[in-house]
Amino acid sequence: MSNPYQPFKAKILNISDETPNIRTFVLEPEQEVRFLAGQFVELTVPGFGEAPFTPSSSQFERDRIEITIMKVGRATTALFKLGAGDMVGIRGPYGNPYPLNKFEGKEIFIVGGGVGLAPLRALFLALAHEINKYKKIYLRYGARSPKDIVYKKLIPEWKKMKGVDLDLSVDVGDETWKGKVGVVTILLKEIPCDLKNSVAVVCGPPVMMKFVTRRLLEIGFPDDMIYLSMEKNMSCGLGQCGHCRLGPYFTCKDGPVLTWDQIKDIKDPF
Ligand SMILES: Cc1cc2nc3c(=O)[nH]c(=O)nc-3n(C[C@H](O)[C@H](O)[C@H](O)COP(=O)(O)OP(=O)(O)OC[C@H]3O[C@@H](n4cnc5c(N)ncnc54)[C@H](O)[C@@H]3O)c2cc1C
Ligand code: FES
Repeated sequence: MSNPYQPFKAKILNISDETPNIRTFVLEPEQEVRFLAGQFVELTVPGFGEAPFTPSSSQFERDRIEITIMKVGRATTALFKLGAGDMVGIRGPYGNPYPLNKFEGKEIFIVGGGVGLAPLRALFLALAHEINKYKKIYLRYGARSPKDIVYKKLIPEWKKMKGVDLDLSVDVGDETWKGKVGVVTILLKEIPCDLKNSVAVVCGPPVMMKFVTRRLLEIGFPDDMIYLSMEKNMSCGLGQCGHCRLGPYFTCKDGPVLTWDQIKDIKDPF
């Protein structure tokens, strides 16, 4: 039987800078990784260990996979020293994806913060692939400053798409910034969705998830219509080690996508 912890090789085809500490890596795995938006993979940096990441590319693209990564510690610092042509390891996909079948016919209200837009990009691309199945896609995104905005080249294209309503804010502006200034919840003062027929999807730093969830509840989103990406500490990714426990859940298997209804009774879920 094959070893489920054994990664297979993936070649780095291209690396692009998104922000001073976030890059998108385009990988060509030697075996196809058939992920669905919201699922994650374990990426190995040879000699430095592995870490979980959610692909940011379209689930419909088969021969390559993009992952947008923020440099924070040991594995990511080592990864940022690699270049095109270098090899990494990959295993997965793991966890539960966004239940797109439950989103059909609805308005999808997506809220991202910082590098949290990466998994949401995979979701956005999956929705955009079959856009007629959904009533409307709202995307609200907050970054620390204009230079911390990821996908700067893609966002203007997304903005022009039919059926998409996109708005951005930065915590702190600069002389180049003509848009909104304030934490992402300023974009949630008014939520133009029909709450009887909408789902909300949130991914970002824990404090952002907490305040965005609070606002969504305040405005009347039902508990089971708020989908959250719970990126807890993970190790095996296979439901074996218990590192990723969140109340009764193993976020690697039961998540990372969980609804507020599932986690609302857990003490400090974020
Ligand atoms: C399911 C899942 C999906 C994820 N998807 C992505 C993704 O698409 N893109 C991405 O960039 N990251 C993602 N992450 C987070 C990513 O796994 C971590 O940033 C990574 O494990 C850090 O590894 P490291 O060895 O570089 O840092 P470590 O050496 O393990 O950590 C070094 C220090 O950085 C801190 N740290 C760790 N993670 C973060 C963080 N996310 N933000 C701020 N500080 C942190 C730690 O607390 C520690 O102090 C995901 C995590 C999970 C669980
Ligand atoms: S990461 Fe090991 S049980 Fe979830």
